[in-house]
Amino acid sequence: MYKIAVIPGDGTGPEVINEGIKVLKSIGTKYGISFDFTKFDFGGTRYLKTGETLPDSALDDLRSFNAIYLGAIGHPDVKPGILETGILLKLRFGLDQYINLRPIKLYPNVETPLANKGPEDIDFMVVRENTEGLYIGSGGFLKKGSPDEVAIQEMVNTRKGVERCIRYAFELTRKRNKKKKLTLSAKTNVLIHAHDLWMRTFNEVAEEYPDIEADYAHVDATTMWMVKNPEWFDVIVTTNMFGDIITDLGAMIQGGMGIAAGGNINPEGVSMFEPIGGSAPKYTGQNVINPIAAIFAAQMMLSFLGEDEAAGALEKSAVKTISKMKSMGAGKMGYSTSEVGDMVSEGV
Ligand code: IPM
Ligand code: MN
Repeated sequence: MYKIAVIPGDGTGPEVINEGIKVLKSIGTKYGISFDFTKFDFGGTRYLKTGETLPDSALDDLRSFNAIYLGAIGHPDVKPGILETGILLKLRFGLDQYINLRPIKLYPNVETPLANKGPEDIDFMVVRENTEGLYIGSGGFLKKGSPDEVAIQEMVNTRKGVERCIRYAFELTRKRNKKKKLTLSAKTNVLIHAHDLWMRTFNEVAEEYPDIEADYAHVDATTMWMVKNPEWFDVIVTTNMFGDIITDLGAMIQGGMGIAAGGNINPEGVSMFEPIGGSAPKYTGQNVINPIAAIFAAQMMLSFLGEDEAAGALEKSAVKTISKMKSMGAGKMGYSTSEVGDMVSEGV
């Protein structure tokens, strides 16, 4: 029996999470796994009502769960930054989810904007550092609003933080057992302090993994190769901000936000799984949003819980469902949100 905390969130978050739960319940029945879902209403709607984002006590509550299943946080009536830092980043940092794992995989029958590239070319994972870098919110203003204004935003990289992320990536590359190639994506030619630390740590840890090819690409070149030669990649490890950027590109080449999922992972603690697209408020309540990304997030959750057989069955059923869908885009699937969820549930 797994205790799952569910944060459906804003916009279309609740709709896609409902489908994910539907699929998890159906897979649970088939594989003898039971889930105890507990809902939390953190998000923009609650913030607008109460002024509260994520109370500290919530972090303690969440620590008692086996995993967290998150829909989307973001509300058009809330100023940018409040919900992101107050909820999403607070969860990632507070629960020390130091890995943001994002598979970039093109499934058959999914359209990619890359000409002449197919499922055999696009299959890699991005390991994004998730608790440091430019995301820590450190810095400030001087003479704000004046012509002499100074704005400082600090980037922090710790040896421990960098090393645990790089180690995770090497282990994952070994476990995947595909091309056995790990690419560090950074900017050592400009960020001569921070990324010197990344490069040195990467090279040191690489010594312990002689079976893995340790590769390096500057982040700008990475975006180029992701479009031109995505088949070169197996696992990419990168910093928080660069990972944020390249995984949106990754989501596009794998078929769009309707399909892209991610895990915020603390291998020693509580992890959180989410579709990486936003709350897509304009589609709210229309039963047209694609729930596949949320369903893949549920698959990642199962796999993280050690339920590999169930995770495999879920993936297979999702792939079968995808093969029947017209498109991955909202409103263009040929089915409604709940029909897609039904199809995956029935196929597991
Ligand atoms: C993501 C999102 C978040 C991030 C935002 C909403 C803070 O873009 O999960 O990639 O930048 O990490
Ligand atoms: Mn992002």
